[in-house]
Amino acid sequence: MYALRKIFFPLFLICCLLTVSVQAQAGHGDQRPAKTGILLVAFGTSVPEAQAALANMETRVKAAFPGVPVRWAWTSSIIRHIMDKRGQHVDSPAEALARMMADGFTNVAIQSLHTIPGEEYHGLVQTAHLFQGMPKGLQRVLVGYPLLATPDDYAAAVNAMLKAAPAERKTGEALVLMGHGTPFPANACYPAFQYYLWKKDKNALVGTVEGSPTLDDVIFELKALKAKKVYLMPFMAVAGDHAHNDMAGPEPDSWKSRLEKEGFDVTCVLQGTADNPDIAAIWISHLAAALAHFK
Ligand code: CO
Repeated sequence: MYALRKIFFPLFLICCLLTVSVQAQAGHGDQRPAKTGILLVAFGTSVPEAQAALANMETRVKAAFPGVPVRWAWTSSIIRHIMDKRGQHVDSPAEALARMMADGFTNVAIQSLHTIPGEEYHGLVQTAHLFQGMPKGLQRVLVGYPLLATPDDYAAAVNAMLKAAPAERKTGEALVLMGHGTPFPANACYPAFQYYLWKKDKNALVGTVEGSPTLDDVIFELKALKAKKVYLMPFMAVAGDHAHNDMAGPEPDSWKSRLEKEGFDVTCVLQGTADNPDIAAIWISHLAAALAHFK
């Protein structure tokens, strides 16, 4: 009997304490009105003209969701440090979420302006989860898909990119899109995108700077197509450093120089996908899906 009491009394005490703490929580319960915000997250760019593409994206998002505050974060710490040196601070996702928490937001829909669900996107999802449900903090933090997520996104992104190709491009002339690429599993999105491109246009190719397909793969396909004329366009949110240097730069190892060396006639188009209204519409549809969870 004594032994039982020895067990039950501490248990009883714990139960009392738990009841008190639950009541205390209910007493100070989260009475705040729901406050929803949007956080747009891009990799970021140090190229001022490219930053205009991001500003255009913000204008489109504000028009699609009037009255919902829009904030920004960039995932690249290197680029944020460059901006800090210029006296133009841009928040990291964690800084932006902490600020939104302090400003009384309860729900945040984050829209990733990344192209594939790669390293940057997964890091963002992890950060979002860590910020969700902190005491007196953000109740819900959801992340919209990057550009290429569902099969419909691939088809829509292909249409958007083909539509953005220069109007003077004639039948049989090649279009080469330069994506970023990644050593992570999501690099498979690029060969998948190539499949959808070929369904619409046999002369449209995608290559990557840091993954696969490589520029060598692209050159192989261009030769098989017997193409002479090539239009080069970035397949990244902004026409930033990669587009200006790796794609269109004067150095012998730029895509333009290498293609010219192979005998192709090359024209570069320096427009990021954030400046393409049909691509922006895909990101905005992903943001709308995230926001719908708060209704
Ligand atoms: Co890069």
